[in-house]
Amino acid sequence: MGLTFRNETFRDDFTYTNSPSNIRRFPFPFVEDQYRYSVNIEPHTPGPKGSPFEYHFDVDEHYVSEMRDRAMVLAADPLRCQALPHMMTAQWDMLELLMTSLARDYPEHFTLHRDGSAWHWINRPLGIDQKFTFLDASTLPYQPMEFIGRQVQGDFSIQDQRDNQLWMDAGIITSQADWSLDFDVGMNFFEWHGPVPLAHEAGVFERALKFLLNLQIGKPVRRLNWTMTINPRLDTSPENYHKWASDRMTVTPENVGKKVHLRVEMQGLFRLPRSNAILFSIRGYLMSFEQIVTVPKWGRRLPRVLASLPPELVEYKSLGRYRDMALAYLAPYDDGAPTSPGG
Ligand code: HEM
Repeated sequence: MGLTFRNETFRDDFTYTNSPSNIRRFPFPFVEDQYRYSVNIEPHTPGPKGSPFEYHFDVDEHYVSEMRDRAMVLAADPLRCQALPHMMTAQWDMLELLMTSLARDYPEHFTLHRDGSAWHWINRPLGIDQKFTFLDASTLPYQPMEFIGRQVQGDFSIQDQRDNQLWMDAGIITSQADWSLDFDVGMNFFEWHGPVPLAHEAGVFERALKFLLNLQIGKPVRRLNWTMTINPRLDTSPENYHKWASDRMTVTPENVGKKVHLRVEMQGLFRLPRSNAILFSIRGYLMSFEQIVTVPKWGRRLPRVLASLPPELVEYKSLGRYRDMALAYLAPYDDGAPTSPGG
């Protein structure tokens, strides 16, 4: 596969960018010229070779730098990783799923040897070589969720299932779009979705929960979600609001193409075998408008979507301050041609 890991930053001087081949594999989320909330869940089956859907957990050129950024966030704020005590079995489930997936899908980078409960994990890009006893947390340098969560791109939360509900009882969340694990931990599916506009009334969350409560082992599902971020910043948490909220004021007609990034989340949902919990993976992809418009069909569609958003979504995603500038920047890329359904 020949991955070359970039050495880049997601803060301060923001050296993050996408190589030309990474631009082409960006999971552009819009399948028509307008966007509305829906229960957009599909089976997480293997997608085209080289696409972010090829494997359950996508590793790309940003891997090493993203893991470095996660370590910085955790060093500054350990509460970004929390697990309630009854989630230990689910933590091991998560570790097993991630290690077996990565070792199977990226053998040149990850190896897992298993001899009964004696496990040996090798992560070459991060230089980790760890022998441990499966189900014995004292043999790892961190709890199992944190140990493996520090080695996989994207955030993770684990939901316990009881009383016909899902409860966010564990997570490692360092690159979120303005929500807080520390605030949400222990909440249920309707509670943590509380701030989302329009979707509750439309029955989206009721139907989504019903579906998830019946999720089967070995039949994961996925969905795409999106928002926009100023600068390629991973950590847009409420905890650090003071560091990034004012970035929105720095957007000008001259720099809008460089500064405004479409942030796409590929979310996976996996039933875990021992705990019956559900693992939720939130794998983020960032791309500047300047890079998006290098693909003509995306440049054509993005302004149409942005122009047609309901005001409640503009407000929830905090796009108001720079939407007109973004539309003016994108306008020349929409030649009025019809677009085809699908990405
Ligand atoms: C937003 C978590 C599954 C639809 C959110 C937020 C969180 C979250 C923390 C941010 C809420 C805030 O503003 O504070 C989760 C977890 C899930 C899950 C842990 C799995 C158990 C789903 C599913 C759907 C969904 C299956 C399907 C319809 C949404 C939507 C938003 C949202 C539409 C608003 C996003 C936006 O406009 O940027 N979710 N979610 N979620 N979630 Fe979920």
